[in-house]
Amino acid sequence: MRLRTEYLDRPLGLGTASPRVSWNCEGGITQTAYRVRATRDGETVWDTGTVRSDRMTHIPYAGAPLRSRDRVEWSVTLWDEQGEAGEQSQSWFELGLLDPADWTASWIAGDYTPKRSRRHPVDHFRKSFHTHPDPVRARLYITACGLYEAHLNGRRVGDAQLTPGSTDYRTRLHYQAYDVTELLRQENQLELQLADGWYRGSIGCFGPTNVFGRQTRVLAQLEITFADGTRHTVATGPEFAWSNDGPIRLADLKDGERVDARMTPSYAGAARPAKAPAPVPTASDNVTPRMRERLVPELVTTPSGRTVLDFGQNIAGFLEFRIHAKAGDTLDLRLGEILDEQGEFTQANFQKRKPARSFGKVAEVLLMTGKENLLRGPTQNTPEQQIHYTCRDGENTYRTRFAVFGFRYVLVETDLEINPEDFAAVAVYSDMEQTGSFECSHPGVNRLLENTRWSMKGNFLDVPTDCPTRERLGWTGDAQVFFHTAAYLMDVAAFYRKWIRDLQDNQAPSGKVSAVAPYNGFGMLYEKTGGSVGWADAVVLIPYRFWKRYDDEALLREAYPMMRAYAQYLISMAGPENRRAPLAHPDDAYLYVRGFHLGEWLEPAEFRDHVGKNGPPRTEEATAYLHYTMRHLAEIADALDHPDDAATYQEYAEGARRAYQRHFLTADATDTDRQAKLVRPLAFDLVDDMNRSRVEDRLVTAVEKRHYRVGTGFLSTPFVLPVLTDADRPDVAYRMLENRRTPGWLAEVDAGATTIWEDWEGEASHNHYSPGAVCQWLFDTVAGIRIEGRNRFRIQPTPGGSLTHASAQYLSPYGPVAVSWRRAAERVEITATVPPNTTAEIGLPDGTTQVVPAGVHQFACAEAFRPREVSL
Ligand code: BGC
Repeated sequence: MRLRTEYLDRPLGLGTASPRVSWNCEGGITQTAYRVRATRDGETVWDTGTVRSDRMTHIPYAGAPLRSRDRVEWSVTLWDEQGEAGEQSQSWFELGLLDPADWTASWIAGDYTPKRSRRHPVDHFRKSFHTHPDPVRARLYITACGLYEAHLNGRRVGDAQLTPGSTDYRTRLHYQAYDVTELLRQENQLELQLADGWYRGSIGCFGPTNVFGRQTRVLAQLEITFADGTRHTVATGPEFAWSNDGPIRLADLKDGERVDARMTPSYAGAARPAKAPAPVPTASDNVTPRMRERLVPELVTTPSGRTVLDFGQNIAGFLEFRIHAKAGDTLDLRLGEILDEQGEFTQANFQKRKPARSFGKVAEVLLMTGKENLLRGPTQNTPEQQIHYTCRDGENTYRTRFAVFGFRYVLVETDLEINPEDFAAVAVYSDMEQTGSFECSHPGVNRLLENTRWSMKGNFLDVPTDCPTRERLGWTGDAQVFFHTAAYLMDVAAFYRKWIRDLQDNQAPSGKVSAVAPYNGFGMLYEKTGGSVGWADAVVLIPYRFWKRYDDEALLREAYPMMRAYAQYLISMAGPENRRAPLAHPDDAYLYVRGFHLGEWLEPAEFRDHVGKNGPPRTEEATAYLHYTMRHLAEIADALDHPDDAATYQEYAEGARRAYQRHFLTADATDTDRQAKLVRPLAFDLVDDMNRSRVEDRLVTAVEKRHYRVGTGFLSTPFVLPVLTDADRPDVAYRMLENRRTPGWLAEVDAGATTIWEDWEGEASHNHYSPGAVCQWLFDTVAGIRIEGRNRFRIQPTPGGSLTHASAQYLSPYGPVAVSWRRAAERVEITATVPPNTTAEIGLPDGTTQVVPAGVHQFACAEAFRPREVSL
């Protein structure tokens, strides 16, 4: 029944004492009642009794107060339309350490003084301890300023990767909890490794180091509980042995690892007590990043005779190998996304230069202003994405631990013989449940969907990033445009909830939000770009879409102060540049002319205009977003019962719409081939009924003139096909989707892409999910699956183009919904599967609609006839 607690499947170390539980119904047509029962240590702590309700999601825990470490077993019984009770389904959750006082461990660090301009090897800490036999349970709670990996009695604790994850370490620090009962003996050895990670390693576009601090630290608390309730705690402290003479001489998320397999840690020193960082460790309640797909390569010899491994798929993750060697033999490996035109390995599409040593303000400003040629002193590439490995005698096995790479190809430099079967690439990402699949008669479209899914996997590592190579930044605009596509493909609820909190962390008192979250250094730059429309609006559009998809009002409430502060910022920015000058027209008070905006971002080269000081004003984009965001905010404020706010937001939404119409929907302004200028007003409902068909027709002309090639950038790409469909021109939308000439989604597929490219020309990053946001249309229009509200769907397939069939499944918050259609002899046959306890309004291609209950429904529909339902 897919029982979930706070979106998570049996979470260990949950961060809230009042979690909400959810389920999906199996069998039956409707759920007429439910009963949830929960026990703690065998005693009932919560019993809802039989509740007459069809609700399946977000039932708040309302039992006896829960405390840190409580393990709660819970079950659900459901009654169907016959009043029959179904079988009980069971799950559990366990709370983490909720109170700062629960932490008795002390922070420890390596016994050395870290230097700002130096890199340091991985630290090893160790403690041996004795414990009584037969504990009932043992838990390790652990976090780090850096990255940690724990081993108990030689076995790795858990399978989470790159923990404790990515946050703004200045304000938020996450810990993880692990069940280590099975690893425990009477004589034990706890080993901890500590690397730089996001805390101290190079991060972000320019690769600064020491962004959060110079001293990496670790905090661990192993709690062993016995049947009589007593607890034995082993906690980090100065009695831990320490050394940093282990095999990993350098570990950096972007640059890679330098390993000397001949070395083993001596633990000759002692841990140094370290200051606790400001934030108290909390649970992220996010899904865990794990190792997923494992790919084996083919060996390629390049024209110049170099050895390259081709994994056939661009991923983000680790590299693994096994090799027999003599002590001192070396392997140098470089990881990249592409081969150049000559067929040689290159990292040119993502590398930048940065100072090799110190990163002062001057260097920051030079990099931010694109003047890296003026950097003084030695410089280096960022990211380096390389592994330097020195072998020990005999068998050597390696898998990346504290770095992550965006790659398909690996350049291998070694005197050793290379067998491709001894290498593997391992994809690493937040282990979200796959919820969506789509398949149709067009192999190129199927590949586009898989490429999008791969770009999502390549970028959903604890936070959504733009690309896994150069920038690796949580760009707000990218994550905003991709939300619905992401949510069809995987269950992103816990993931985006975590990131919404990261957004909150990065809001300035003015209400402006940084353009990247979490913070990654270069605050000046990302604060400047932070007000950019389309990017900043993520703070409203993501919680709004989250609410509509997951029906989560509590999260909306939690995010409301952030949204409200952003609304204040927008209000402070609206109006003309010169506030004192009289307005040319009263509606100009709602024009948004100020601030810095990135604009459409990466339209095809012929439309692209300069971003920055000398670029054109972005009043069109900004005023459109002022309307769009305020409209959403008004709906949110209304739902949350803030009528005064709602009225203000409505005033701005309407004012901006009028101002937009006066300035940007004139006959002149809309006589353009620049698709974004026509898509945006249509998508945002800025066009009144009188002008709608004029703007729609002009868009169709613009698309036809370009021979159905795409002409939009990040902001309008997700909207272009929906807008054409709404204009009753799905034929044009399909031609655009199926167009194979650059710029176009399938042009990339034809060029051999295995992920989505950042720019249509394929010159920048090759793993940017943003333009893959078109896949939302495959689910919600081609297959036609949409969530209409709690327990309700709208299913309206739109057959078209050269497609003879299409099918999609979506494991929605209310259960699995599926649609497939097939065209033959001008008839369409449609099968819709509606999950138990939900209804769907079916819209058929001939324009008729009907509401159906749970079950499998088939329809046959010819244009000229009314559809008839075929009973199964
Ligand atoms: C990033 C984008 C981002 C953009 C904003 C780029 O360099 O890679 O994904 O949204 O900057 O300007």
